[in-house]
Amino acid sequence: MRVLQAAAEREHEQVVFFNYPEVGLKAIVGIHNTVLGPSLGGCRMRLYKDEEQAFEDVLRLSEGMTYKSSLAGLDLGGGKSCIIADPHMKEGREELFVQFGKCVEALSGRYIAAEDMGTSVQDVVYMQRETEHLSGRDPADGGGGDPSPWTARGVHGSIVAACERVYGTSDLAGRKVALQGVGHVGMYLLDSLVKAGAAVTICDTNESHLELAKKEYGVEVCGLDDIYDVDCDVYAPCATGQTVNPETVARMKCKIIAGAANNQLSDPGVYNNIEAKEILYCPDFAINSGGVISCAGELQPGGWNEGWVADKVDNIYFTMQRVLDEAQKRGRFTELVAIELAKERIEQRREQGN
Ligand SMILES: NC(=O)c1ccc[n+]([C@@H]2O[C@H](COP(=O)([O-])OP(=O)(O)OC[C@H]3O[C@@H](n4cnc5c(N)ncnc54)[C@H](O)[C@@H]3O)[C@@H](O)[C@H]2O)c1
Repeated sequence: MRVLQAAAEREHEQVVFFNYPEVGLKAIVGIHNTVLGPSLGGCRMRLYKDEEQAFEDVLRLSEGMTYKSSLAGLDLGGGKSCIIADPHMKEGREELFVQFGKCVEALSGRYIAAEDMGTSVQDVVYMQRETEHLSGRDPADGGGGDPSPWTARGVHGSIVAACERVYGTSDLAGRKVALQGVGHVGMYLLDSLVKAGAAVTICDTNESHLELAKKEYGVEVCGLDDIYDVDCDVYAPCATGQTVNPETVARMKCKIIAGAANNQLSDPGVYNNIEAKEILYCPDFAINSGGVISCAGELQPGGWNEGWVADKVDNIYFTMQRVLDEAQKRGRFTELVAIELAKERIEQRREQGN
């Protein structure tokens, strides 16, 4: 594995490996860029196929966090950590996370950890014994609590911005939305879309989530694979990544793709497929930053403040407008332009000497 070369290709500042076999801890922390501020990003726990896969995950995700935080106007950089272990482990979990807390502490605040896939608020509580460099805490502990409503609010604002562009109106009444995944974020998004008068079709792998959505909102349900064929204006992926690929785009009838899921596009090659169908793509990292904004709120002087978080989340609508304006001006795909804008803010800060 050519570690330094891989890190250099993505312009990472630092990648740190931790190995504590006595507690079963094998972890990688990726610090992509700290020009705007300390790197912040979740700690994932997963049984990776091999170390290369974990390493690649850390690099990709921490780079994404740099762009997400920069575009959200936060004074934070991009970071992420992966613990290579069974996320369902019970025995020894406490010792493992206490040790990982020590690892985070050893980075002296250059990396701020939070919960992510496979980790929980309880794991953050274990880490808290050894480090203060954490976010995503319980409200009882001065934290912002569940970030999902904030993420959904940012995605909703972006759907409005995109509808204004495509249909010339911000009114969502009668707009048809295909919503994939009604979990934490998806259910909040469903609520706000239905309240705005949209007609939503949903799918989910989890029967109880579907039942709840049907009972609360009386929405239409389709099969897991049928979501790509739904006759709709907006496809909103809120489940897993990489659902937007040449095969699914060929089937889509929507004019807009806007959802909360991370890494929605299978690869940059799919840009051409999306453009060829004249679909407006809202870059995931530009619109799903509500959660990281809430985490950033905890780090503000005086602690988490709802007004501060709400202002920043509502600003995602204007960020989306700017991405669309610039994409038109620069004649390039929205995702590329969103990355450019994020990098430009970092460059400006670098020139000002941080
Ligand atoms: N929670 C946040 O604040 C936040 C912030 C940024 C990004 N995201 C991303 O948004 C997405 C959703 O996050 P979440 O917190 O709501 O997760 P979640 O696990 O609570 O919800 C995901 C939902 O999708 C369903 N699902 C899984 N695979 C599916 C499939 N193939 N087809 C249809 N449904 C499927 C699950 O059953 C679940 O109901 C994830 O990709 C996550 O990384 C979440």
